[in-house]
Amino acid sequence: MKKRKVLAAVLVFGISIQVLASCTAEEQTGIARAQVGVACYNQSDIFISELLDCFEEKLNQLEKGSFEATVTVRDGAGSQRIQNDQVKELVDAGCNVLCVNLVDRADPSEIIDIARENDIPIIFFNREPVAEDMMQWDKLYYVGADAKQSGVMQGELAADAIETEPQIDRNKDGKIQYVVLEGEPGHQDAIIRTENAVDTLRGKGVELEKLSYGIANWNQAQAENRMLQMIGQHQNQIELVLANNDAMALGAIDAYKKLNRTESALPVFFGIDGTKEGLEAIKEKKMAGTVYNDKEGQAEAMAKLTEALVSGSGLSDIEFENEKYIYLPYSKVTFENVEDYIEKE
Ligand code: BGC
Ligand code: CA
Repeated sequence: MKKRKVLAAVLVFGISIQVLASCTAEEQTGIARAQVGVACYNQSDIFISELLDCFEEKLNQLEKGSFEATVTVRDGAGSQRIQNDQVKELVDAGCNVLCVNLVDRADPSEIIDIARENDIPIIFFNREPVAEDMMQWDKLYYVGADAKQSGVMQGELAADAIETEPQIDRNKDGKIQYVVLEGEPGHQDAIIRTENAVDTLRGKGVELEKLSYGIANWNQAQAENRMLQMIGQHQNQIELVLANNDAMALGAIDAYKKLNRTESALPVFFGIDGTKEGLEAIKEKKMAGTVYNDKEGQAEAMAKLTEALVSGSGLSDIEFENEKYIYLPYSKVTFENVEDYIEKE
């Protein structure tokens, strides 16, 4: 019995010396080590996977002697319960910063509790928690973009196209017959984008007639199915497709391709994001325009914030809105400037 206690004491002592040794080594070398735990809502989401690639790249670029980062990514596969467990695992594995892309943006409490108990800051990204939840603790941050701006820009792009290409009004009734492909219900970027795109078009004097809408959860294959149904209902009456993101605009294009519709029976398509495939579609004139969701800027903001939180310096150089929000601006992409964005990739 006694022996065991002694052994335990020796072990504990040994471990604390080791911990102490590694701490002092860190202090002496002055290296800040970030162990970043990333929890995303669904890794098969095109925009999210492109954003995460950028994030790892930006962290690599920051690694210059005094900063080192390792990243572990977990895929919540659309379940908040799974994501909560994954965050627990990331914390147990020793992560000192969490980057969380919530499955259910209205349900972050369990994750916030785990983080607070362990004093690990959270950078939420892309799926914005509601303001009250962001107030739960002072080490909660958000990096994303202003949904309204993307909707307004999509509306402006569509209005410009309608003005310069009168043939978009194929039946020449002075109105634009349109359909909308929407992202997940409850996502800050779905309804706000739709409302602002439509309001902007109306504000610019475009007469609109809404034929239908389909919820396709940001997903290309679902959008193709929804579009096939809408074409079934409205045949060649559809003149404009407003999609809440590029993946769904591409799904709509796929639907017309599947039906072998000729050029003259095609509507104009607008997306948001500027994903690789989205930009390609603009270059090939299959999609008329998109609104660039600045993943490089968002990834860079997340990486810089990570470094500042772990190193304990530089936080005051970061410009926040309301002390915890960073919003990167959107920009418009058409055939005229698409090459600039393709180069950026
Ligand atoms: C993007 C979508 C993406 C969604 C995921 C949005 O900001 O535009 O492409 O699917 O975020 O949360
Ligand atoms: Ca018309």
